[in-house]
Amino acid sequence: YNHVYGKGKWKDFDPKDLLLTYNALKVLEARYLLKDPNTLRYIETPQMMFRRVAKYLASVELKYGKSESEVKALEEKFYEIMSNLRFLPNTPTLMNSGTRLGILSACFVIPVRDSMTTPEGDGIYDALRAMALVHQQGGGTGFDFSELRPKGDVVASTAGVASGPVSFMKIFDVSTDVVKQGGKRRGANMGVMHVWHAEIEDFINSKSGKLKDVQLQNFNISVGVYDYFMEKVERGEEVPLITPRKTRIPGTDHDYYINKARNYMSEEWAQEEILNELEEKGGAVWLDESKIITVDEALVIAEKEGAIIRWINARSLFNEIVKSAWDSGDPGLLFIDEINRRHPVWYLGKINATNPCGEEPLLPWESCNLGSINLEKFVKETENGKYIDWDGLAETIKYAVRLLDNVIDANKYPLKQIEQATKSTRKVGLGVMGLARMLIKLGIPYDSVDAIYLSYQVAKFIYYHAFKTSIELAKEKGSFPVYDPLRYHDIWESARPFEYLLEVTKVEGKPSEYVRKLTAIVDKLDFSELKAERIKHGLRNATVVSVAPTGTISIIAGTSSSIEPLFALAFIRNVAVGKFMEIDSLFLEYLRKYELDNPEVVKKVAETGTVGENMFMPATIRKLFRTAHEVPPEFHLLHQAAWQQWNDSGTSKTINLRSEEPPETVERVYLMAWKLGVKGITVYRDKSKSQQVIYFGIKK
Ligand code: CDP
Repeated sequence: YNHVYGKGKWKDFDPKDLLLTYNALKVLEARYLLKDPNTLRYIETPQMMFRRVAKYLASVELKYGKSESEVKALEEKFYEIMSNLRFLPNTPTLMNSGTRLGILSACFVIPVRDSMTTPEGDGIYDALRAMALVHQQGGGTGFDFSELRPKGDVVASTAGVASGPVSFMKIFDVSTDVVKQGGKRRGANMGVMHVWHAEIEDFINSKSGKLKDVQLQNFNISVGVYDYFMEKVERGEEVPLITPRKTRIPGTDHDYYINKARNYMSEEWAQEEILNELEEKGGAVWLDESKIITVDEALVIAEKEGAIIRWINARSLFNEIVKSAWDSGDPGLLFIDEINRRHPVWYLGKINATNPCGEEPLLPWESCNLGSINLEKFVKETENGKYIDWDGLAETIKYAVRLLDNVIDANKYPLKQIEQATKSTRKVGLGVMGLARMLIKLGIPYDSVDAIYLSYQVAKFIYYHAFKTSIELAKEKGSFPVYDPLRYHDIWESARPFEYLLEVTKVEGKPSEYVRKLTAIVDKLDFSELKAERIKHGLRNATVVSVAPTGTISIIAGTSSSIEPLFALAFIRNVAVGKFMEIDSLFLEYLRKYELDNPEVVKKVAETGTVGENMFMPATIRKLFRTAHEVPPEFHLLHQAAWQQWNDSGTSKTINLRSEEPPETVERVYLMAWKLGVKGITVYRDKSKSQQVIYFGIKK
């Protein structure tokens, strides 16, 4: 505390700061608490930081006609949910609210057209500039590089040859190194290339083999795959590799047909949607001037125009992806059809990329701000047993969504394109942290059917209440500008049932009476009533939830990150500000219960971080405290899939694998992921890299 308050300066001490762990204080002190730029002395305590954020975000409501006292009351609510550590907004909001730096959002997607610069500001070097501006203030950026012509292709203006997307990505990577995010954290990027691209093999291998730990260190990379591709993988059939160059004749628009050839996978759902719409509205046309053609028609045209460079066996391409991911964790996959099928405002265009960790599939120039609820805070205990405080959770969701919606108005956008795109959909992403610790408190092992059921039910509850809040906000302040009540896709209509998830993963068992009773309230939620309300009153935000990794805010909240299992029971945490040892406090509690809390035992556990194989530990502890690498991949996936069903954007998750898992495991996981309807997938095999982008937790 002396660090924060200054030696002997306790007058500002607020007992609420005692809720913060030592690690939380270290992180806040190093990066979040404001300092006087001249003396470098701290000018705020943690509570003052929460107050700054609450005040700044509540003040937005003055613009909506709220009175001073109403705004003050909201400020109190915002302050309360943050200072009790029930909810925290993403890092940029905590750092920048009320300061000179104005970006409060964590997630951005920037378009990259196949030109150096364009009048619209979306050429390669325009994108680079946009990235630098976003990174400077702590945001993360995602790009689809598929529009860039492959290396060796013709460049008309110079009669030379193109260098290709992977070499351009290297420039983005170097620039990321140079521009430290707000001087406080390293910039993060997602680089996407779609599977039809002629340079896809170079992309797949751009971070593995000899290039592992060397190239594109500020990028996570993902291959954008489509249903047609996955089906051809299963059947071992050929797919075309295409150059997008043909589609860009200077001064003209994209060639429609070749565009279609690359996007052909999306047509089936598009047609279905259009048919539905035609039925409903009696004649609206999607894609303005364009007609819909079949996949085969598009391919014939592409072939004729020389856009198909060659054909490749889908299975061998898929094996290359798998091999590379097994080797280094990259690339992950993005399931582009699933992303677009379940995009609530699909009528605005096709999504091709996500932010760095995958929780936000966004349209070009869109940004999204995140915030996460700390689930562990809602486990209560009475003499009659444990229960979940659903009322408290609903109340927290209500103010959290309101706060996130205010962030959109409070944001100072670095570019007008970003402002325009963000303000037209007003996407916000309410997520969670502390799932693993919630489960431990309820006595449910992470890798159990009960845990998956609980995830499914809690996700459904959060989605329901976040959505309901957004309808209420629309009543008060109006819908997002491009809201179309008839075309808006209600994602709950396409949520897969819980049993389906078990079926795909071949996990046997049924949820117990205990967990059914714990979550019985969720079965009473009426989504069709909610839909009627939406149609009647409107909707404030195109998306409302999103499961982010909560890398830093979970440290501030002192809980486990996101929906991940515990990473290690005791480990060394390696962050920009130094190394420190951490022992999970719930684990320590359990050790105490069994009178095992002596330093020798703790030291032993810290050596491996786990107790799963420790025969001397009581069975309860061994089952309840299984860590990330001990949890079978199916259960990692099941949690991700459970949360994704009740999520209108994405669910960030790392499928952690033991180092001895063979490439076949990665293959199985990737295929299962597609069938489970998650929007993207990332694996990380223990010890496969010297360091992970973003994720610190280095196990000793
Ligand atoms: O916990 P915190 O709010 O710091 O962030 P997170 O939940 O771990 O990450 C959320 C998003 O913030 C990521 O998906 C990125 O878009 C962005 N981010 C970033 O740009 N740079 C980082 N070093 C970490 C996160």
